[in-house]
Amino acid sequence: MKTVVIGGSGLIGSNVVSRLRKRGHDVIAASPDTGVNTITGEGLDEALAGAQVVIDVANSRSFEDQAVMTFFETAGRNLLAAESTAGVRHHIALSIVGADRLPASGYLRAKVAQERLIKRFTVPYTILRSTQFFEFAGGIAESGSDGETIRLPNALFQPIASDDVAALLARIALVAPLNMTVEVGGPELIGMDEFARRYLEAKGDPRSVIGDPHARYFGTELKDGDLTPGRFPHVGSIRFDEWLNNALRAAA
Ligand SMILES: NC(=O)c1ccc[n+]([C@@H]2O[C@H](COP(=O)([O-])OP(=O)(O)OC[C@H]3O[C@@H](n4cnc5c(N)ncnc54)[C@H](OP(=O)(O)O)[C@@H]3O)[C@@H](O)[C@H]2O)c1
Repeated sequence: MKTVVIGGSGLIGSNVVSRLRKRGHDVIAASPDTGVNTITGEGLDEALAGAQVVIDVANSRSFEDQAVMTFFETAGRNLLAAESTAGVRHHIALSIVGADRLPASGYLRAKVAQERLIKRFTVPYTILRSTQFFEFAGGIAESGSDGETIRLPNALFQPIASDDVAALLARIALVAPLNMTVEVGGPELIGMDEFARRYLEAKGDPRSVIGDPHARYFGTELKDGDLTPGRFPHVGSIRFDEWLNNALRAAA
């Protein structure tokens, strides 16, 4: 089976590529560095020729509201049109749990626009909505930083190891399209402030984290449940403390 992973050099993409290659699949790791660009269309037709499955795990380099919307709309349109021409049988995309519940966030509005395009095209699809990756802990902490202190929402959310997400995406690539959205979350609920606090403490970062129900997470206030999966989600097996210990050991 030929599979193209758009964003194949990224955190999730490189993991999915190596999982599928280990199973003996023909996989193209597509990204601008390998000559495939979903914004300009460069290299798309060549990469998709003969492909049955496309996994889109690309991300915008800028998280600014308009830039991220332009990225997901333009890339989505170019990619899906090229897939239609190439006769791709399964389009898989990675989105975010709760994206449609938080329209104040420009990034989440762009993910909803990406999902809408997928549903409008005729290529059979599966959308996997994931919660926030453990690997994003540093990014979450910095998003609330004003120098010495970090102010973050204390809403409960359900972050997950990117390895669990990549494993599920690789499994989805091997089955028929569901033409629906499925969700995955981590094994534990934790306050976003507590998540960042544990991460910074483990790294020896002295900054304090203040839990504030009115602090914004990428443009939006959060309450418990906004970023947690609904009924019957897939659940990752790696716990945050276990991931943190492994990440610190690997860094040392
Ligand atoms: N972070 C989270 O907590 C979270 C949670 C749920 C879902 N997601 C979603 O997961 C997806 C993957 O995230 P990630 O953290 O793995 O991303 P990442 O590590 O930033 O990787 C992004 C990938 O996209 C590629 N890319 C950028 N512009 C491109 C273009 N014009 N054409 C083709 N490829 C392009 C990059 O290539 P280069 O290496 O050449 O730049 C890279 O391979 C994103 O769609 C994100 O919305 C993230």
